Amino acid sequence: MGSLQGQVLGVTGAGGGLGQALTAAAAAAGMQVVRFGRRDADYALDLADPAWGEAEAAALVAAAAARAGPFDAWVNLAGADILSEPWRSRPYADRLEYLWRVDVRGTMLLSRAVLPHLNPRGRPQILNVAWDRACTGMAGPFGELYAAAKAAIIGFSRSLALSVGPRVRVNVLAPGWVRTRWADSLPEARRRALAARMRAGRWQEPADLAAVIVALLAMPPDVFQGQVFYLDGGDVLGGG
Ligand SMILES: NC(=O)c1ccc[n+]([C@@H]2O[C@H](COP(=O)([O-])OP(=O)(O)OC[C@H]3O[C@@H](n4cnc5c(N)ncnc54)[C@H](OP(=O)(O)O)[C@@H]3O)[C@@H](O)[C@H]2O)c1
Repeated sequence: MGSLQGQVLGVTGAGGGLGQALTAAAAAAGMQVVRFGRRDADYALDLADPAWGEAEAAALVAAAAARAGPFDAWVNLAGADILSEPWRSRPYADRLEYLWRVDVRGTMLLSRAVLPHLNPRGRPQILNVAWDRACTGMAGPFGELYAAAKAAIIGFSRSLALSVGPRVRVNVLAPGWVRTRWADSLPEARRRALAARMRAGRWQEPADLAAVIVALLAMPPDVFQGQVFYLDGGDVLGGG
């Protein structure tokens, strides 16, 4: 594995469960982390803002790059929580629009906005986040909505990998059940019942996933391109 010492990493959704864990793990590996988000961030970012679009994405990333230097890596973790209120009980079409705006449109516009600000000397990389069931599916409205959005992110990321590779690497993280904010909001009995259905018998811990993400960032170039990394303890393997 290569050294990440001194490399510049941009992270969206930096104040979330995975974002905080990744920020800590990347900093421990010597990376200079630039955090984007609605809280605990160096740069404010609200992907649901109706006024936020391509020009705003370009200006935001340019401002950050001018200060921190070009980015060696960029991880799009920002994702809408439609499992919690107030979004949980909103109409299906509203949830779809919100998820599309934050997860899909946000990931696509930021992935493209960072391209001119990636380190021209290295082999920079973009990691986008999907979901382990995005392509296998999950029954129910939440499964339908998340699968649609996260499968779109996979399709976009693989296409971008073809557009900008091999110099720029674009890959996808597909976590399963991770114990972050929504999981922590559940009653203990419900959280345990869900864990019993997971192949590992427990929720994935954000710190464990963050360690894997940092290890992926440190991998040699020319090995992974346009890949989807399933970080779910084998939940989508199928079988008995
Ligand atoms: N946890 C899981 O089981 C799981 C499984 C598969 C995929 N994922 C994906 O992994 C990513 C991180 O999730 P997490 O578990 O860390 O959840 P989380 O703790 O809810 O974090 C989500 C992050 O996205 C940010 N965000 C939400 N709406 C936003 C908006 N309109 N504009 C900008 N940022 C916004 C949140 O900001 P605030 O802090 O301000 O709310 C937060 O930083 C998400 O894309 C999620 O879909 C999670």
